[in-house]
Amino acid sequence: MLDKLSDLEKELQSITFSSPAEVEQFRIKYLSKKGIFSSLFEEFKDVPVSEKKETGKKLNLLKQWAIEKFNSSKDSFSLSDNIAEGTDLTRPAFPFSSGSRHPISIVRNEIIDIFGRLGFTVSEGPEIEDDNHVFTKLNFAPEHPARDMQDTFYIFKHHEEDSDPRDIVLRTHTSSVQVRVMQSTAPPIRTISPGRVFRNEAISARAHCIFHQVEGLYIDENVSFADLKQTLLFFAREMFGKKTEIRLRPSYFPFTEPSAEMDVSCKICGGKGCNVCKYTGWLEILGCGMVHPNVLEACNIDNSKYTGFAFGMGIERLAMLKYQVNDLRLYFENDIRFLNQFKTAF
Ligand code: PHE
Repeated sequence: MLDKLSDLEKELQSITFSSPAEVEQFRIKYLSKKGIFSSLFEEFKDVPVSEKKETGKKLNLLKQWAIEKFNSSKDSFSLSDNIAEGTDLTRPAFPFSSGSRHPISIVRNEIIDIFGRLGFTVSEGPEIEDDNHVFTKLNFAPEHPARDMQDTFYIFKHHEEDSDPRDIVLRTHTSSVQVRVMQSTAPPIRTISPGRVFRNEAISARAHCIFHQVEGLYIDENVSFADLKQTLLFFAREMFGKKTEIRLRPSYFPFTEPSAEMDVSCKICGGKGCNVCKYTGWLEILGCGMVHPNVLEACNIDNSKYTGFAFGMGIERLAMLKYQVNDLRLYFENDIRFLNQFKTAF
């Protein structure tokens, strides 16, 4: 046994550590319950009495030494890992300024969340689109004045005599995404498409050439105007509060029939009339309607079997109402003094 202990002594002397994991391995191998020292103490019981004194002394010394080696190595790692020399750990932490989400993102996420609870998925599509997806498939006749309703930015415009006059435009609404969804998915369809849209408007407090929309589409068998109303009422109450009322006014869009514009009761004055709702008690927030049968047909959906509804809203408009910001341009300037005010809202 004494020979064994001499070998062990040499072995322990030669061990060096390069990571805290190695120190731990050392502990397990030598010092744990099933470790080498435990088994040596077992063996010690069988050592002849004449050798017991010397062997016991050596064994105890070695174990003590191994424990010290373990403790000092463990400490040196935790110290050298955490403290660069001279660091004062009692100093206050360096102030970390956290960022904040843009108010448009906050409102967009809220809208996505509300419709998500009704089973709507999110779909996205290109901002640079062809005329076909932005207008033609949505029942805009070739020379229909409604094409001018949304002052379009043309990236590429064909001459009239071209046999394939597919113009390239910046999308004026995200209804183009819904066309893509209808072309690629069999009903039932329940989706919303948030995204950036572009219209050739002079920039002012109330208009901008870039803004954001969320448009929704629901197609299935037996979908009726009542479903549209119920869905939008749920949305309005989740967004603006349980007491919110909605009002639908007849309107016109080429891709829906019948079409409507939806107002919500003014949250600021509770419908009594104030300068935000221009003393009407109502705020217009979105356009909607039943998907026109021509649109379903153009997108290869059987319009004798399926019906659907669609709606679309501007995110900036909702954000302006929510945050009482009355100049649209603030959302695009990225002025840190403006954005910092949304810090607490994650
Ligand atoms: N696409 C319309 C717009 O941009 C909104 C809308 C969507 C209206 C769906 C009706 C149905 O103004």
